[in-house]
Amino acid sequence: MTEKRENWGSKLGLILAMAGNAVGLGNFWRYPYQAAKNGGGAFMIPYFGALILMGIPLMFVEWNLGRFGGKYGHGSLGPMVYLQAREGVSPKAAAIIGGLAGAIALGVTVLVNSYYNHIIGWTIGYAYLSLTGGYMDAAKSTGEVFVNYIQSPGLVFTFWLIALVILGLAVSGGIQRGIETMAKFMMPTIYVFGVILIIRTLTLGSPVNPDWSPIAGLNYIWSPRWDALNWTAALAAAGQIFFTLSLGMGIICNYASYLKPDDDIVLSGLATVALNELAEVVLGGTIAIPIAYTFLGEAGLGAGVGFSFISLPNIFRAMAGGPIFGAFWFLLLAFAGITSAVAMYNYVVSLLEESFGFSKKKASLAVFLLYILVGLPVCLEPILTKTADLAYLTEVDNWVGVYLLVVLGAIEVIVAGWLMGNKAKDEMNNGSYWKVPDWFFKLFIQFLTPVSIIVLLVMSTRDYLKAGYFKMVPDFVAGTPVLVPWVQAGRFVVLAVLVIGFFQAYKTIKDKYQVELESGQVSIRK
Ligand code: ALA
Repeated sequence: MTEKRENWGSKLGLILAMAGNAVGLGNFWRYPYQAAKNGGGAFMIPYFGALILMGIPLMFVEWNLGRFGGKYGHGSLGPMVYLQAREGVSPKAAAIIGGLAGAIALGVTVLVNSYYNHIIGWTIGYAYLSLTGGYMDAAKSTGEVFVNYIQSPGLVFTFWLIALVILGLAVSGGIQRGIETMAKFMMPTIYVFGVILIIRTLTLGSPVNPDWSPIAGLNYIWSPRWDALNWTAALAAAGQIFFTLSLGMGIICNYASYLKPDDDIVLSGLATVALNELAEVVLGGTIAIPIAYTFLGEAGLGAGVGFSFISLPNIFRAMAGGPIFGAFWFLLLAFAGITSAVAMYNYVVSLLEESFGFSKKKASLAVFLLYILVGLPVCLEPILTKTADLAYLTEVDNWVGVYLLVVLGAIEVIVAGWLMGNKAKDEMNNGSYWKVPDWFFKLFIQFLTPVSIIVLLVMSTRDYLKAGYFKMVPDFVAGTPVLVPWVQAGRFVVLAVLVIGFFQAYKTIKDKYQVELESGQVSIRK
C-alpha cells in the first residue's frame, strides 16, 4: 500500500485532468450519432433531465468517494465503497458491496479500454490518412476505406501501439508530471481545434443542395421530433450521460483520490460537468452533425458508430481544405480519447500499486501488456473473419460500456446517500467552496438520483431482454454464425474479469480491514 499518495500539482491542472477524464470519444464520436438517431431535439429533453437527476449528483458522490478513499491510501473502488458502506451495514456486508463495486470498476477500466484504445488508434490513423490523402480517392467509398482499414493488420497494429505507448508514458510519468502535464496541453488544444472546426462548419454554405446547410443541420438537431421521444431514446440519453461524464466507471473516483483531504469537491465537480457539456453539446453538436447535414442531408446522419469514420471523410474529400480539417477533426478525437483512456489506464495501475505493491513503472508495463492481450480479440475479429460487424466489441460494450455503468452508479449513490447518509454530506462539504445544501442532499442524493437510476436499470433490463441481448445467441448475430463465437468470447471475458475483480477487491479490503471484518466493529479511522 502506498502510504504517501501523489497529489495534483495545481487547481488548474486538476480541473483540466478531470475534464480530460470526462471529455472523450463519447463527446465527439458517440454523442452526435446518438442524438441524431434518437430524435434530435427530442433527445435533448431526457438528456438534460438525466444530467440534472443523475449526472450532477453522481459527480459529487464520485468525487467524494474518491477523496475519502484517498485519505486512507486507496485509489481503487472496492475499498473506497467499503469505507462508506461500513457506516450503514456490518463490515462484512460492506466488504461484499465493495467487492461488487470493485469488480465492475475493473471490468470497465480493463474492457472499455480494450476497445477504446483501438478507436483512439483509428483516429490517429485517420489523422494520418487525412494528411496523406489516404481516403481521398473518390473511386473507393469511404465505407470500403474503413473496412479496409480495420482489416489491415499493419495499419491497425501500428496506430494502436502508438496510442498505447502514449498512454503508458503518461501514466508511468505520474500524476503531476505525466497525466497533469498532458491534460494541460491536450485539453486547451481540443477546444481550440473545436472552435476552428466550428468556424469552418458554419461557413460551409450550401454546396450540394440549397436545402442542406449547417444551419439546417443545427435546426435538425435542436428541433424536437416528438414522435422519436420514447423509452429507447430516453435510455440512450441517460446512458450517454453516464458514459460522457465517466460515471459508473471508477475513474472519477480514482482521480479524486489524489486530492488533499480538504480540497474543494463541489465547485470542482460542477466545473468538470460544465467543461464536459461545453465540449459535448456545443462543440460535439455544432461540428459533426451540421457538417454531415450540409453535404449529405438527413440521410448522412444515420451511420451509427461509423459516423465519424465513414460519413465525415466523404465531406473532407469534398470540402476546400479537407485534408487539414480532416486532420484537425481526427486529432481532436484522438486527444479527447487519450485524456480519457489515460484515466482508465491509471485506475488499473493504481490498483496494482495499492494491492500488490508494484512500483509505478512496473505496473505501467504490466497494464500495457494487459491492454495488448485484451485488445487482441477486438482487432482480430475483422481481420480473421473478413467482416466489419465488430460483434465482440459490440457485445463487450453492451455490458461494460453501458449496462454495468448504471449498476455501479446505483451502488455508489445508495452507499453514499443511504448507508453513509448525512456523514457523506458533511464529508462532501468539508473544504468545498460551495456547500451541498441539506435539501439537495435529501432530495437528490437520497431520493431522486437513486430512484431514477433504479428506474433506468429496470427499463434498460427490459430493453436488453427485448433486444435479445440475454439470449444464448443474441439477435444481432443470429444471422451471422461466424460471429457467434466472438460474442461468446466477449461474454466469457466480461465474466472472467468481473469474477477476478470481485475477489481482488474483496481481498484488498480484507487485508487492510481484517480486524473490522472479524470484530464487526468499525475501528480504523483517519
Ligand atoms: N467520458 C469518456 C468519454 O466520453 C469515457 O469518452
